Amino acid sequence: MYQAKRILVTSALPYANGPLHIGHLSGAYLPADIYVRFQRLMDREILYVCGSDEHGAAITLRAAQEGIEPQEIIDKYHGMFQEAFEGMDISFDIYHRTSSDLHRETSQEFFRALAAEDVFDKRESEQYYDEEADKFLADRYIKGTCPRCGHPDAYGDQCENCGSTLSPDELIDAVSAISGATPVKRKTTHWYLPLDRYEKWLGEWIERGTIDGREHHDASQWKNHVLGQCKSWIEGGLHARAMTRDLNWGVPVPPELEGSEGKKLYVWMDAPIGYISATKQWCIDHEQDWKDWWQSEDTGLVHFIGKDNIVFHCIIFPAILRAHGDYVLPQNVPANQFLNLEGEKLSTSRNWAIWVNDYVRDWSEHTDELRFYLAKNMPEQRDSDFAWKGFQDANNNELVNNLANFIHRVMVLSHKYYDGILPEINEDIDIAGPRTDDEYAFHDSELLFLFDQMHQYCAHVREYKLREALQDLLSISSYGNQLLQFNEPWKLIKEDPEKTKVVLHLAMQYVVALSVLMRPFLPRASDRLRDMLQVDRLSDSGELLRLLDHMAEGEHPMSSGHAIGEAKHLFSRIEDERIEAEMEKLKASQNDASISVPAVAIKPEINFDDFSKIDIRTATITAATTVPKADKLLQLKVDLGYEQRTILSGIAQHFDPVDLPGTEVLVVANLAPRKMRGVMSEGMILMAENEDGKLDFVSPREGWGKGYVVS
Ligand code: 2FM
Ligand code: ZN
Repeated sequence: MYQAKRILVTSALPYANGPLHIGHLSGAYLPADIYVRFQRLMDREILYVCGSDEHGAAITLRAAQEGIEPQEIIDKYHGMFQEAFEGMDISFDIYHRTSSDLHRETSQEFFRALAAEDVFDKRESEQYYDEEADKFLADRYIKGTCPRCGHPDAYGDQCENCGSTLSPDELIDAVSAISGATPVKRKTTHWYLPLDRYEKWLGEWIERGTIDGREHHDASQWKNHVLGQCKSWIEGGLHARAMTRDLNWGVPVPPELEGSEGKKLYVWMDAPIGYISATKQWCIDHEQDWKDWWQSEDTGLVHFIGKDNIVFHCIIFPAILRAHGDYVLPQNVPANQFLNLEGEKLSTSRNWAIWVNDYVRDWSEHTDELRFYLAKNMPEQRDSDFAWKGFQDANNNELVNNLANFIHRVMVLSHKYYDGILPEINEDIDIAGPRTDDEYAFHDSELLFLFDQMHQYCAHVREYKLREALQDLLSISSYGNQLLQFNEPWKLIKEDPEKTKVVLHLAMQYVVALSVLMRPFLPRASDRLRDMLQVDRLSDSGELLRLLDHMAEGEHPMSSGHAIGEAKHLFSRIEDERIEAEMEKLKASQNDASISVPAVAIKPEINFDDFSKIDIRTATITAATTVPKADKLLQLKVDLGYEQRTILSGIAQHFDPVDLPGTEVLVVANLAPRKMRGVMSEGMILMAENEDGKLDFVSPREGWGKGYVVS
């Protein structure tokens, strides 16, 4: 596999508009941290950058909701993020922020260079505008029904229900997220990135890993779900995307550019450039040249993200980088899928989450245990689940009973028989083990087994298969336990003291190797173990590489004569009460949330006149058909008694059209007609949705039929 000289690792910059939960951790931060810590142990030149994403509509909207300035919001969450990451030992080389001057300058310079190269198309178009709030409505400022899944609360840039990336024009029945008003269209000019022009090279780069026919990376190393998403984007045809917005918060479009007044960079233009500005800051602090990291063929760039960010990191940012020229493109984007909680989607609005800051506060002695469970269940290829019971079991069975128990047994026996001094052994003595009961050469077989496991672990981490790497580690201690069980040194000591020395000497080599392999996954336990063994803590500078080299020469990880310290338990059991308390807390907080905060935000207040403008009638559906090329829409014929109407409704994913004729419904009868997919929709059917996304008609009382006026 091609190995770059330097590795530049990024984790998605979290939006500073709300706290981090365990889903964020397992998606973009923990996997990157494990990977980076491993590469440091292998003595690779590596830089790990991240920071807070402090622009974008999510932040200004949140500030408006809370009646405070965006600056207050970003300062609060930036501080919380730092605390959460530190608490979980995420070892960034730098944690920066996009509100910094350096970031503003860096993004503006980037934008300026693209504008100078005529990369953008500057176009006037009609965009949604809220006349009440006097604002253009882009991204999260506009809401409506998702055209893909029918979710009624999709944003102008994304539907959080189905994960689709959207544009405001695609929303059905769009309304302003600020005032709830129906927006009008107004002309505005923006800078567009013509993604369609990059389709060809992007396709080659993603599918074959080549750029201009030259090998760039090994495409077979990319995860299937990442490749699949990219291919479907490209096959669907890429379209020009506006890289600027009419907003008052964000990086200003360089002021010397014509028409820049009031325009800000699109947050997805400036956020990934945040990786570059973070690198620049680190280089300033460490007297290095940032270009060595971003503009050198020697760099392998790796983006760790969650699956909702794939298009931005695999298509839009690479297009931006290449349009600029000189910049490296990612070697890999090992995106993770989503983590659920107790079988349900994590949800900030429903408060169905484990917040990292809470965990770090309440379980400060058990942060490695969370890292362990999240790594073991990492959603590498598909969505996975966090269950408190599963967390307890993983801790009690695997960390305590397997890993800690093995280490403890070896240390206790070493103290008992040899006063904690690793015994000299007679290398001619062979021992047996559970893999074969024949006695066989200690060096050829047992140490080789350890060596192979270590190599396998390394290969798995390099391939971003962290779950498997963790299993490699655990299989060393399970095998160590079996080896003790098989040889029973507590009996053997009487019959054959020389052989006992060999067994314990060997087991101790496993323990030392584990102390190194644990480091990326369980950094605190690695320190504790190395303290117990009276060997230096790891400084993440090549120790694993040196150990492997050492072993390749037939040396042992620990030499005879070394004195270990007192044996302690590396991990402790988690009792039922603590888990039950967490389950209670989770349920209660969710209930609280449903009592005090509705899952879907209440729309701004309206007065009686607003309400009385709405004319709701009872009606009966007389026919229902699907709509070509709109797999979420159904075309309904509705009888209101005094007339027949055609209504398009985003419910195709929820109902089979054959079941609908005869259904009695409520219709907003005076909604202005709207053309969708070439069909005029004359009204709206009232629907209700429960927390699980189940959609149903709001039905009039049975037998009302058509013609009632609802008021
Ligand atoms: O999804 C998010 O939280 C974004 N703030 C991620 C940005 S990643 C990068 F491009 F900065
Ligand atoms: Zn959707």
